[in-house]
Amino acid sequence: MELVELMKKRFSARKYEDKQIPKEVEDYLIQALKWAPSGKNTQPWKFIFIKDNEIKERLKKACKGQKYVLEAPLVVAAIGFPEDSYPAMGGYWNAITVDVSIALTQMMLAAKEKELDTCWIGAFYEKDVKEILEVPENGMVVSLMTVGYSSQERKTGRKDESEIICYEKYS
Ligand SMILES: Cc1cc2nc3c(=O)[nH]c(=O)nc-3n(C[C@H](O)[C@H](O)[C@H](O)COP(=O)(O)O)c2cc1C
Repeated sequence: MELVELMKKRFSARKYEDKQIPKEVEDYLIQALKWAPSGKNTQPWKFIFIKDNEIKERLKKACKGQKYVLEAPLVVAAIGFPEDSYPAMGGYWNAITVDVSIALTQMMLAAKEKELDTCWIGAFYEKDVKEILEVPENGMVVSLMTVGYSSQERKTGRKDESEIICYEKYS
């Protein structure tokens, strides 16, 4: 399938089947994370793969009760280390969230290629997630992502190209 077709098929899955992810597919996702670009190739991240139900139950609470966190066979917590990342994007901001988001996006698309669905989780209490996963003080929980098989379908659309693209100068 062409990459853009795959992107159009992807959606945020909030209900998952009770089906485990094969080890070779998990390894494929790890490669997608590993080969992501980062500012100055700092690779300022660590990805925690969580399958244990007790930990997922606690994470569900830390993710404001979002039920599918427990349902998904895999939750990936993306931890960034701002001290290690490129500190001056455009001369004024730290690249950490961009770096980690690129890696997670690569994993999200690799997952879709393997017929897995995902959901970004931005609604979480960082302090609680850090405590549950024993993330060191200098780590930052950038996002979590559920991964699994879903029979849901896309519900969302997107803005028209004319609203988001302009040429040569801003207009
Ligand atoms: C940074 C970010 C944080 C998000 N956080 C959540 C979340 O906490 N819970 C949730 O159900 N969806 C979350 N989403 C999913 C978005 O709501 C979803 O991508 C958007 O509505 C478009 O829908 P689609 O992904 O199905 O196309 C998040 C997405 C992004 C990119």
